[in-house]
Amino acid sequence: MVINKICCIGAGYVGGPTCSVIALKCPKIRVTVVDKSTERIAQWNSEKLPIYEPGLDDVVKECRGRNLFFSTDIETAIKEADLIFISVNTPTKTFGNGKGRAADLKYVESAARMIADMATGDKIVVEKSTVPVRAAESILNILRANKKPGVSYQILSNPEFLAEGTAIDDLINADRVLIGGEDSPEGQAAIEKLCWVYEHWISRRNIITTNTWSSELSKLAANAFLAQRISSINSLSAVCEATGADISEVARAVGLDSRIGPKFLQASVGFGGSCFQKDILNLVYICECLNLPEVAAYWQQVIDMNEYQKSRFSAKVIESLFNTVTDKKITILGFAFKKNTGDTRESPAIHVSTTLLDEGAKLHIYDPKVEPSQILEDLTHPSVTEEPEKVKKSIEIHSDAYTATKGTHAIVLCTEWDEFVTLDYQRIYNGMMKPAYIFDGRKILDHEALMKIGFQVQTIGAGRLSYGRSWLHPSLATLLLQCNKVH
Ligand code: NAI
Repeated sequence: MVINKICCIGAGYVGGPTCSVIALKCPKIRVTVVDKSTERIAQWNSEKLPIYEPGLDDVVKECRGRNLFFSTDIETAIKEADLIFISVNTPTKTFGNGKGRAADLKYVESAARMIADMATGDKIVVEKSTVPVRAAESILNILRANKKPGVSYQILSNPEFLAEGTAIDDLINADRVLIGGEDSPEGQAAIEKLCWVYEHWISRRNIITTNTWSSELSKLAANAFLAQRISSINSLSAVCEATGADISEVARAVGLDSRIGPKFLQASVGFGGSCFQKDILNLVYICECLNLPEVAAYWQQVIDMNEYQKSRFSAKVIESLFNTVTDKKITILGFAFKKNTGDTRESPAIHVSTTLLDEGAKLHIYDPKVEPSQILEDLTHPSVTEEPEKVKKSIEIHSDAYTATKGTHAIVLCTEWDEFVTLDYQRIYNGMMKPAYIFDGRKILDHEALMKIGFQVQTIGAGRLSYGRSWLHPSLATLLLQCNKVH
């Protein structure tokens, strides 16, 4: 039953934290995380880890050099391991068949080929990356087609449900661990071995075992459901803005229904991150390939609504600033896709910033954890601009919120960092151009207090706010008038 050595291919947001927690909870297992990027591995072995995740530093400090190792020696780690996690990236394809929708499995394939080349003895290979349904079959085909004598493989699916920003807590107190495998004695034995690893800290009743395809699909389904909730509440935020209803009040009323529940009902500028969009696009593509166009269209709408929300918010900023932001200085507060991470993949801040830059704005950007080089890379990437030099001249990256807001016309809050709630907004207001605007894309600020100071405040899912009185949208007023005429 015993697993002595684990190798994890891919030292990213999933491989790093997951294996750190396994090493913490299973001190007798030697865990080696490998990556082809020497830079990433050097960072994992340094004082400044390559990713920011609350609690991660402590776990790594406790285990690194004891039973947790980060290495570029992929061959030795694969040879020695009883169990190998594949935690490489599975981005959306950017070319060829399925471009813009299908998951690009080239990294998974290359990991499988490395295992096939290097493995000796019996190996359990575990898909931790999020993959299309039946990807395990392709991995197995590669492994079996290149099998050397004396080597045997079992493939398991063990998708990761951690959320960035709360990864360590999610891993330690997982709602569930999902393991899918082959319905054969060998498959069941492999499942039991992986269960044994998790049972070091997760209760057996929270470890679910299924067939491989259910496990693969469950990960896509879970992300689709989560993103769908955000798009659902965001769609209603547009109705609120047009009617005078308040999305926070609606969300509260809806969420108190125990069948619905209150979590993940916060309207915002839109969801981001490396997973939701990519995984739903992948699901859409799978449905199309399976000749299920209605199902594909249903899930596509979740993505379309998110695009609409980001565009709607950006348009609202421009419209409120007298329909022109050319040469206006605008502060972007927060650049990460959510709080407590430095990850900017698919961050709504990129969409908002790019739209404002296209309109000629000068941006003053501050994020507590995103590296300036990352912000620069995101905003000058060929996919978002044809004029990187112009963009460079139009952005200033600041190391605190006070300098970032000094002398600007407006603040656009894109990430819900806790520190933004407790800023001294009177001090900020005093330093800004007047009228001073705040666009709260995350609904975290005290809007009444800001209006008392003198700010013009706009947010998601509420009519234009004005201190001391509610505001009726003109289209609603017209509608009501027309109704009165009819009756
Ligand atoms: P990442 O991009 O942060 O890390 C992937 C790492 O794999 C990179 O460091 C890359 O250099 C390495 N890599 C790629 N091919 C390799 C190879 N052949 N040999 C050695 N190293 C190789 O990706 P992230 O965010 O960790 O995601 C990994 C997978 O986990 C993806 O499928 C993702 O969808 C899934 N996932 C991600 C979550 C997240 O919050 N980021 C949550 C749950 C699942």
